[in-house]
Amino acid sequence: MKRHMDRPVIQALDEFQKQQPISFHVPGHKNGLLSTLPKEIRSALSYDVTELSGLDDLHEPAGMIQDAERRLADLYQSDRSFFLVNGSTVGNLAMLFAVCSPGDTVIVQRNAHKSIFHAIELTGARPVFISPKWDEKTQTIGTVCALQIKKAIEAAPDTKAVVLTYPTYYGVAGDEMAAIIELCHEQSIPVLVDEAHGAHFVAGGSFPTSALSLGADVVVHSAHKTLPAMTMASFLHVRSSLIDPQRIAHYLKMLQSSSPSYLLMASLDDARSYAASYTSNDQEAFLQERTAFIRSLRELSSINVVEVDDPLKLLLRVEGYTGFDLLDKLEAEGIFAELADPFQILLILPLLKKDNYFPFEESLIRIKKAIIRLKSEAVSDAAKLSAFSIGEEISTLAISPTELRKLEAEWVPIESAIERVAAGSIIPYPPGVPLVLGGERINEKHAEWLTQYIMMNAKFQGEIRTEQRKILVATE
Ligand SMILES: Cc1ncc(COP(=O)(O)O)c(C=O)c1O
Repeated sequence: MKRHMDRPVIQALDEFQKQQPISFHVPGHKNGLLSTLPKEIRSALSYDVTELSGLDDLHEPAGMIQDAERRLADLYQSDRSFFLVNGSTVGNLAMLFAVCSPGDTVIVQRNAHKSIFHAIELTGARPVFISPKWDEKTQTIGTVCALQIKKAIEAAPDTKAVVLTYPTYYGVAGDEMAAIIELCHEQSIPVLVDEAHGAHFVAGGSFPTSALSLGADVVVHSAHKTLPAMTMASFLHVRSSLIDPQRIAHYLKMLQSSSPSYLLMASLDDARSYAASYTSNDQEAFLQERTAFIRSLRELSSINVVEVDDPLKLLLRVEGYTGFDLLDKLEAEGIFAELADPFQILLILPLLKKDNYFPFEESLIRIKKAIIRLKSEAVSDAAKLSAFSIGEEISTLAISPTELRKLEAEWVPIESAIERVAAGSIIPYPPGVPLVLGGERINEKHAEWLTQYIMMNAKFQGEIRTEQRKILVATE
């Protein structure tokens, strides 16, 4: 345990401070001296340093960063673990670059984060999509099953990798991951897992088992999503006889900044230490607080609380209203949820330790006020959407990104876009899972969902003009 209490990056930065250093180097804020930021932010800047003597180098770690990454690998039981300073996004890019060359086939869960699709486009790989079934409990697209992967591999035996998202944004883990990994490994196909929402699974107990423990070859974690780490701070772990960690290191060197943030690295070191020292007593205390919170929520009439595989996630619904309606009222009371969708809002609970405080009681008072306000308004056209599984069970792009780039495009009303090919992706954000992918043929379900999302004032990224209800399609 002592090994995990130590935080070598933070210790080295503290030692460095003791020299009362005078900066004649980058960054230009000179240990914060020249910064005009508010003082609360400025106070951290003396730690925002660069690759000075004794402070190691993320891209060639041989000192305190190597030490910190080894402790990380020890905690997650990987062959090698990496600090990422550009989110799981860069981890997803690096893991795909490490296995794919242009034209290679990869099997991909269709409800993946946009960073996975960007990685596929950049590597020039040929994606075969698997659409998971609709998950009734959470009213979301769920996880894939081993049988679907088996069928996809039979159809594409030259597959170079299977890329999965586990758990989903909504905390659904399913129970097929072990079987899928076994199936893929029988054919020497590596399994790459975007486990952005599961960095805390290492705490064990009531949390789902990490895909890394189930045998996945590469696993990416947004430490910042569920551990107490700064935004963008993430991990990548390799444990594989099929993928050389050096390949991953090679791509991370190209894809990450040559000036990685020491604040982020300090935060990663701290998050690792936090996760490693999270005891079963801590978890018990967290679960008790959670249970009390859920009980109190359920006592507020008209709120429906849905629990999912990951106890850190909760869904709240109010019958007759969309998640967007509910989010709006909660925000007016100063309660900020992770996201809303047509059916519900998603809360991410804090990974509390035994003696941590979180304002659950104040939250309940505010949630109650928000619900009263919501119910004073007319029932909305809530959630008339039917189950949605993006595309066929197994599908691929109608036009590859390379071909798409050569085509002209035009804006057309959504209903006229059916059977046309999307010229770019359309992504409700958050969660960042594309509803339509560039190069994908648009079907009636896409059109229905896009129209409904617009009516509910959802936020989008990508090739959509919400006021005009138009999307960009290729002229084939
Ligand atoms: C499933 C999933 N993967 C990857 C990412 C990208 O993570 P990051 O924001 O750490 O780059 C996200 C972000 O929301 C995500 O939800």
